[in-house]
Amino acid sequence: MSDVAGGRRLFVRQSSGLVREVSVTNALFFNAAAFMGTGVGWYPAFYSLAFEAWMRLAAERLEGTGVPVYLIPGNDDPYEIDEALAHSPYCVNVDGKVVDIPGDLQVIGSGKSNPTPWRTPREIPDDDFREELTRLADEVRDPRRTILLTHCPPHDTGLDTAPLLDDEMRPIVSAGDLLRGPVGSTGVRRAIEELRPLLGVHGHIHESGGEVGLGSTLCINPGSEAAFGILRGYLVDVGPDGVERAFRVEG
Ligand SMILES: [Fe+2]
Repeated sequence: MSDVAGGRRLFVRQSSGLVREVSVTNALFFNAAAFMGTGVGWYPAFYSLAFEAWMRLAAERLEGTGVPVYLIPGNDDPYEIDEALAHSPYCVNVDGKVVDIPGDLQVIGSGKSNPTPWRTPREIPDDDFREELTRLADEVRDPRRTILLTHCPPHDTGLDTAPLLDDEMRPIVSAGDLLRGPVGSTGVRRAIEELRPLLGVHGHIHESGGEVGLGSTLCINPGSEAAFGILRGYLVDVGPDGVERAFRVEG
């Protein structure tokens, strides 16, 4: 991560299914979505311990580098982890906040999602989602220097395509193929269309990684193949006039 041509480089990374990371030049962001599986129930104590460990690891690796770390949870994360995030010795939870970051940029954070079939802890109706983001957008200095960091991608952008499920939550198959459709948030989409931020950084739909222009906003979703040990991410160069280039990377 380094300044490029006097601009700023944003790095978005997804790791082993426990933590997703996003970084901006001299600043690092974690999109921390953890998942234990609906079949075995939720384990808030495990989550808290896991996140405490991740927060310690982030401090251990990054202390002294001059790279601040910002993070948001994901919809699968129980609210119990927020205490661990709040007590992080190094990272800053930007969920539900507007925060100044290096490069004369601001970030709006939200770890929620629109309703899912799995009834996860941080779901919110789309209208409420839009209202919450609109309220946060009122604090923004300049939309063109603002990154909207929402775990959930905007609806029907190609960053939110997932298998469609029937009433019993089984994937719908037609002519031997899985039917797929948009499952992202209409609230996030409307917030982006209204605010027109510089960049939208998203996750949530692992199988739908990529980048797309939504009006004047570049929206990215690194996607994830953590189950196969593959980390996916994005490098985004931000200059004085906006996004200069974006690279999808993996490791
Ligand atoms: Fe998610």
